[in-house]
Amino acid sequence: PIVYSAPTDHTYINLPSVMSQGVVMETCTCTAPVNMAVIKYWGKRHKDLVLPLNSSISATLDQKQLRTKTTVAISPSFEDDRLWLNGIEERVDTVRIQNLLAELRQRSIEQQSCPQEWFSWKLHVCSENNFPTAAGLASSAAGYACLAFSLAVLYRLRGDISDIARRGSGSACRSMYGGFVIWDKGTKADGTDSIARQLYPETHWPELHILILVVSDQKKHTCSTAGMEVTVETSSLMKQRIRLVPDRIKEMTSAIEKRDFHKFAELTMKDSNQLHAVCLDSYPPISYMTDVSRQIVHMVHEYNKLKGQNKVAYTFDAGPNACLYLIEEDVAEVVSLVTHFFPPIGPTEEFYTGLPTGSVALDQFQ
Ligand code: ADP
Ligand code: DP6
Ligand code: CO
Repeated sequence: PIVYSAPTDHTYINLPSVMSQGVVMETCTCTAPVNMAVIKYWGKRHKDLVLPLNSSISATLDQKQLRTKTTVAISPSFEDDRLWLNGIEERVDTVRIQNLLAELRQRSIEQQSCPQEWFSWKLHVCSENNFPTAAGLASSAAGYACLAFSLAVLYRLRGDISDIARRGSGSACRSMYGGFVIWDKGTKADGTDSIARQLYPETHWPELHILILVVSDQKKHTCSTAGMEVTVETSSLMKQRIRLVPDRIKEMTSAIEKRDFHKFAELTMKDSNQLHAVCLDSYPPISYMTDVSRQIVHMVHEYNKLKGQNKVAYTFDAGPNACLYLIEEDVAEVVSLVTHFFPPIGPTEEFYTGLPTGSVALDQFQ
């Protein structure tokens, strides 16, 4: 029988070999957090290696709210590689998954980290997100970070594995670390310097909170991978963005370093707006935000104007759902503002930071 570990917060657990009645199996269960970019990644310079056109910066959320949990198992008794996502079997013969596995095995062979025979054993993956999948809440980030994590632990890999997670989904490399994380775009053709690293730990700015407003939990019409491809191919505004981002990265790093919320908020909102502008400038245009998303934008600007400085920052990934950054002391007032203008009405238009219960829970990022 397979023995699954009880997941713990933030740690990933390595189970010993499970041997019973001649069945050999190695398993490992991990959990991984989502991250919300404040300087967005949008556009690749190499599709298979998943190398970005620009560097990006994000904050990693506490796993108490939104997380992926993945169990990986290998055994000579398995006949095929298989993967279940949220209880439904998905294909494993995708370029992303195959590249991730190939990189992992290659690294493991180089490090002689586990018995060679393990590579001929088939793999079973069982993964579950406790928040909407493919709805612009970074499920691919938590999902592929978790897959890379659990396999790396299983194969006893050493060293940075953010570039392995990156093969699955670019944003996943940033979920490997807590706090504020930068994904350096790198300059090498083989992508070996396109890795994530922590800029500041979560303790650097403990007053900073993240609030997620779920506008829709439905799967997006254009997945991020396809969306950014159309943008890179067709948007002339995107060329301007690529020239501008390096300065923004510097400014954002400095705002975080100084804990300058006003500047941090301005840069965050401008970068989100620019992401959605290049999406609209794509041909055919891609629109991820809805009327409700735009009303949230309007509300935040009105609130900040009233306060005479930026108290809240919105950011939207490739989806309609808002992520608000704010300082702890403003949380209560902003929550009442949001519930006043956007009263929770049910499963598709609710206000929460994690579990799909409709409850209001505030998430201190980690
Ligand atoms: P999101 O905005 O949620 O990141 P994407 O379009 O980037 O949306 O990616 C969504 C896709 O990521 C899903 O359709 C699925 O293929 C993959 N994915 C999401 N969660 C997981 C997971 N836990 N394990 C493996 N793959 C996942
Ligand atoms: C808008 O990492 O999901 O969330 O690398 O093709 O899987 P792929 O795309 P993905 O794109 C994320 C785009 C974003 C911004 C960000 O997270 O930086
Ligand atoms: Co994604």
